[in-house]
Amino acid sequence: MRRKVIAGNWKMNMLPDATIKFIEELTPLVKDKQSEIIICVPYTDLFYALMSAQNTNIKIGAQNMHWEESGAYTGEVSGQMLKAIGVEYVIIGHSERRQYFNETDESVNKKIKAAFENKLKPILCVGESLEQREAKKQDEVVTNQIKADLDGLTSEQVSNLIIAYEPIWAIGTGKTATTEDANNMAKTIRNKISDLYGQNIADKIIIQYGGSVKSSNSKELFETSDVDGALIGGASLKVDEFDKIIESVKE
Ligand code: 13P
Repeated sequence: MRRKVIAGNWKMNMLPDATIKFIEELTPLVKDKQSEIIICVPYTDLFYALMSAQNTNIKIGAQNMHWEESGAYTGEVSGQMLKAIGVEYVIIGHSERRQYFNETDESVNKKIKAAFENKLKPILCVGESLEQREAKKQDEVVTNQIKADLDGLTSEQVSNLIIAYEPIWAIGTGKTATTEDANNMAKTIRNKISDLYGQNIADKIIIQYGGSVKSSNSKELFETSDVDGALIGGASLKVDEFDKIIESVKE
């Protein structure tokens, strides 16, 4: 049985005070949970989040990183820097970065490799646009992203990767993919991983769904065969709602 991984992506939200309060309030609510619980916070909250989450079962992630270790890259943060302060996870290739910051499959691939070199666990985001879904191209788009983004990775690395399927049209729009759509894509991704790395790795890899996940739709999502958790934006900003989503995992 694969474990469930419930991750919050705070995007560009939350100041340090709110971060500390959030983690202090969440800690007792989730302390006995079997699921892996991750919060991916803005860079400026990382230190505070790591301090507050010490000796808890809440893991902290970043939302992006550069592939170089160091150098003249003004405004960037490297994997080495994240690792040095105790960050465990890093979101790579979120659609907002692909859309607004020219992230390409090539840069995503370099970042994933650099994350593994620094012993960070990447959460790779993939997903199709509305036009691509309407043209029924979603499987082709997502499997092409997977192939390009994972190019050159070893089986061991891939088995430690988390993939988040986030259809762009469902992010922040209130439109969720149906549970069936989400599970079908998780299966498609798993089959692609099986083609590329074998069934054993495909059976192990964690595949999340992301896009307007909330406590009213999470239970059904987590009961499917192939969705192993969620990457949650808006609904991860309120302790009560995030906790309800975590509670909706059957243990
Ligand atoms: P929402 O949950 O706000 O739709 O955002 C999803 C997302 O982009 C998580 O990475």
